Amino acid sequence: MALPPGFLEELRTKTPLPALIGRRVRLTRSGRQWKGCCPFHGEKTPSFYVYDDHYHCFGCGAHGDAISYVMQAEGQSFIEAVRGLAAEAGLAVPEEGPDQAVAARAARDSLAVLEHAAESFQRRLRLPEGAAARAYLGRRGLTEATIRRFRLGFAPGRGALAADLARDGITPEQMIAAGLLRPAEDGQPAREFFTGRVMFPIGDRQGRVISFGGRRLDDSQTSAPKYLNGPETAVFSKRRTLYNRDRAAAAIRAGAEALVVEGYMDVIALDQAGFPGALAPLGTALGAEHLEILWHATPLPLLCFDGDEAGARAALRAIMLALPLITPERSLEIVPLPPGEDPDTLLGRAGAGGFRAEALARRQPLIAALYALLRAQFPGATPERRSAFFDALMAAAESIGHRTLAGEYRRALRDRFYEEFRRPLAPRGKPIGMSRGASFRAVPPLRAAPRPGDQLRGRVLLAVLLHHPALALEVEEALGGFALPAPLIRLRDAVLAWVHAKVAKSGAESGGRGAGLNSHPALDSPALFDHLAEIGLGEQVAEVRACAPAFAAPGAPLAEVAEGWWHFFGFSHRERLGEELAAAQRDFAANPDPRTERRLVALREAQNSLAAGDPGETRPDQGGKGDGGAEDGGAEKHGARAGDAAAGMVEI
Ligand code: UTP
Ligand code: MN
Repeated sequence: MALPPGFLEELRTKTPLPALIGRRVRLTRSGRQWKGCCPFHGEKTPSFYVYDDHYHCFGCGAHGDAISYVMQAEGQSFIEAVRGLAAEAGLAVPEEGPDQAVAARAARDSLAVLEHAAESFQRRLRLPEGAAARAYLGRRGLTEATIRRFRLGFAPGRGALAADLARDGITPEQMIAAGLLRPAEDGQPAREFFTGRVMFPIGDRQGRVISFGGRRLDDSQTSAPKYLNGPETAVFSKRRTLYNRDRAAAAIRAGAEALVVEGYMDVIALDQAGFPGALAPLGTALGAEHLEILWHATPLPLLCFDGDEAGARAALRAIMLALPLITPERSLEIVPLPPGEDPDTLLGRAGAGGFRAEALARRQPLIAALYALLRAQFPGATPERRSAFFDALMAAAESIGHRTLAGEYRRALRDRFYEEFRRPLAPRGKPIGMSRGASFRAVPPLRAAPRPGDQLRGRVLLAVLLHHPALALEVEEALGGFALPAPLIRLRDAVLAWVHAKVAKSGAESGGRGAGLNSHPALDSPALFDHLAEIGLGEQVAEVRACAPAFAAPGAPLAEVAEGWWHFFGFSHRERLGEELAAAQRDFAANPDPRTERRLVALREAQNSLAAGDPGETRPDQGGKGDGGAEDGGAEKHGARAGDAAAGMVEI
């Protein structure tokens, strides 16, 4: 039943929302609005905000006005909610006017008309006149079962549909209302919308036919559009419709992945290949209402985009649209398809396994896709480009409506940005960002391929631990990434296991890891050597001990040893420095104590020296190798350092 908009407006203004919601939810003032624990999802800390005319939950995304609140909270229908609220507000609900009654009946009529049309198209696909369409669907690889499941049909045109429907007593006016006939205009009589096309019925959430898409059979006949979609009608709104919604929603509830693709044929090919959770918008870009529909079915729909430039544009557009709407409970993932392919062609070439390997396996969390896509928009390395890129990242984070999530995005994007750009600068003598070939590249993989010298550096760092096992508690994460030969990996793991066993036994863990760094009497070096010899690692111990650097002499204060360790780590694991620094910054911010500060300062120093080129410590015979760009120049220096440190080793 339709009500005059003026009435609903009046009803809303006469229904103070805080009072209404306050009957069920304990609300407290928060500035000009009220807040409390959301009645629509279980929560202990309030993220449900009530304003004069609407409410919004930053936790689950529930959002609406007084009417939708009563509908959601009491499980009432729209008209029940309106009647109840109107009675409380002392308003009389206007009687349904003749216009509204007519509109409601027309909508019911249209659904019946469209169902008859679907049957007509399906039947005609089986007639001789449908032979070309049948052949076409066969060439597209669709099985008989698939054609029936999706109720595909054929529209011959030339009055065939009108003739079929007239037999069911349906008038041309009803066909126009249902979007099957174009109204007469400019002296032209009313004409069928679809002529000579394969027909794809479009369903609503219950699977009732609300419109059609039609594809031409002949791709050489480029004067006609490849696909035609029915016009907007009382029952069909493209903004609110996704193709295959009813079947996909059921499949998603049963565990299928929600895959948003571009076209009818993609949805059908995916379904046939065993991915029944596929949906597609209908010749329009994905919009906010589409996202709401998707999130109704699953918290994490996957959006597939072509891996080319147009696909990247579409993906970025969809992401920007989604950011204001995401919450910790509902977001997106992005699936990049191989360039130039859609799911249908990929399945045709590589099958379901190929789709899994070449598409699904490459899915990216929203934030990773956002970073990469924005990155591509700001190529170049000048400070101007970089700062524009940074601003774009921050603006994107800012557009997230959920405030804590926005903060997390801001932090993560900023870390990622610094990780990428705080890399060693160009070698001395070359102006930053202007040398050819020294452009800023994409973020390197976190675990870079081992370089010559890595093993020596790993041994040096491991040697420090043999003499100062307590340090393992502080550095174990960083330690995990060393490139070491297998026997030394065993040694490293044995050291860590021993340290943890000791700590657990002494019960000292209770004070937190860092707190007791200097106070683990059980973590003494001779006991560790004994243990390692006992489990057959004596040889490896000897090999590694020979690499112990000077700063790790027995009896050196642990704080100094730790500082030395981090400093050396910063130089020798350049490829991980940015990552480690970001982590150190986070740790220090969250928990500023001598331990976190030591790590941060030592890593920063290492970075500063690297960035400055640190001429005093570069060997003369290696200082000139800068031709290959910043990377190579830095790597050489870094090699020199490992040598320096190793040269300073002492027998202990
Ligand atoms: P595409 O052009 O990507 O086609 O359109 P497709 O899905 O790969 O189609 P096939 O494989 O050639 O059959 C994607 C979607 O865009 C809309 C349709 O909804 C289509 O499924 N579209 C496309 C139109 O609405 N009109 C057109 O002329 C073309
Ligand atoms: Mn296609």
